[in-house]
Amino acid sequence: GIKIVTIGGGSSYTPELVEGFIKRYHELPVRELWLVDIEAGKEKLEIVGNLAKRMIEKAGLPTKVHLTLDRRAALKDADFVTTQFRVGLLDARAKDERIPLSHGVLGQETNGPGGLFKGLRTIPIILDIVKDIKELCPDAWLINFTNPAGMVTEAVLRYTGHKKIVGLCNVPIGIEMGVAKLLDVDHSRIRIDFAGLNHMVYGLDVYVDGVSVKDKVIDLLSNPENSSFVKNIEGQGWEPEFIRALNVLTCPYHLYYYKKDEMLQKELKNFKEGTTRAEVVQKLEEELFELYKDPNLAIKPPQLEQRGGAYYSDAAVRLISSIYNDKRDIQPVNTINNGAIASIPYDSAVEVSCVITKEGPKPIINGDLPVAVRGLVQQIKSFERVGAEAAVTGNYDTALLAMTINPLVPSDKVGKAILDEMLEAHKEHLPNF
Ligand code: NAD
Ligand code: G6P
Ligand code: MN
Repeated sequence: GIKIVTIGGGSSYTPELVEGFIKRYHELPVRELWLVDIEAGKEKLEIVGNLAKRMIEKAGLPTKVHLTLDRRAALKDADFVTTQFRVGLLDARAKDERIPLSHGVLGQETNGPGGLFKGLRTIPIILDIVKDIKELCPDAWLINFTNPAGMVTEAVLRYTGHKKIVGLCNVPIGIEMGVAKLLDVDHSRIRIDFAGLNHMVYGLDVYVDGVSVKDKVIDLLSNPENSSFVKNIEGQGWEPEFIRALNVLTCPYHLYYYKKDEMLQKELKNFKEGTTRAEVVQKLEEELFELYKDPNLAIKPPQLEQRGGAYYSDAAVRLISSIYNDKRDIQPVNTINNGAIASIPYDSAVEVSCVITKEGPKPIINGDLPVAVRGLVQQIKSFERVGAEAAVTGNYDTALLAMTINPLVPSDKVGKAILDEMLEAHKEHLPNF
């Protein structure tokens, strides 16, 4: 039997994960599932944990669900640790989005200043978790879903000796599913060669049954309805000539870089109307927890699909199962580059298609990224590295450096103003500063 520990167990995504474990019980017999949270999330943990128990009971499985605020007790002898926490909960996310926007800068929780601050809050905690893992379950795999997943994976690789970490995002699987739908074929027939970074990943080629359909898919990306594959980002069509010349599949987060102005104007409008994504999600979360409380509910309610993390359970559980069962299939994950992308350092985290084995993901070598995207990817990698360093050291100058080299921040002066305001707003969650 397998012991899984999920940190941030009170997340509204937990039923998604539980559904994944139920579906794959035959190949991944989970004996214990420990959901861990903190005092601030205690009520959410109770509600979602009880739903998890009902789901498992309804499925007739012997998996034992434990709810706890004691992380160390949970971690003892774990086989897999998954992380899906948010330091400061959604109130902190609202600040990540709103403070940059009040300075006329894009406010997004994993890109630009918001992404930096989510990293500054998260990295010290993840390093603590890794310390506990090394002591209590040194052979466990850490599957990190907590954003900014790229910067977090980079920090763990660079600042801990723990090599058994995989960063996970639902964007690549969302693109696979979306492309399958556009082409009206079953998703199992789609293969995409993914390469880049988290929320900065490209599809270098895409195949159906071994035949490239890249040109066809690229044409489809000019349609606004097709350019985002996640619920949290509204699509906007690419200029057909641009996307043809780029000649690779984009991910939804590229809209923030190649349509900076349009995306900023849209966010500013939402900001003025009090409907940034944090506010939309706060409302959605309230509705979801009302549903979760119903003692007759024993399935994942379809309303959860309005969150951006669709297919999270498929991505997480297929990854855990392929490690556990040594399946050697191909999945896109965040792992150490080791030369998979020539223009990114060997020891940095990248998001690439990997062969998933018992020893972990083996990245598939892509040669290099096309020259037109290489520079942006390197710039974002530099941002992630400097951001991770700032989180670890608590150094103000390093944080300002990370802020200013981010392509979404217009100047050092604006960057400093945002930095100062955000440091103050988030100070209870930034003990290093
Ligand atoms: P949320 O605000 O509901 O937080 C989840 C839980 O984390 C809460 O119950 C909270 O109390 C708990 N928590 C906070 N600090 C903690 C700590 N130190 N230890 C343990 N638990 C703690 O967040 P959410 O909207 O459910 O998202 C959870 C996380 O998953 C976020 O970081 C989000 O960015 C991430 N996410 C990632 C992807 C991806 O593609 N990688 C997709 C969706 C969500
Ligand atoms: C996408 C991304 C996640 C992100 C989520 C936000 O799925 O891959 O990394 O956390 O969207 O969704 P939300 O519903 O919280 O806005
Ligand atoms: Mn993601």
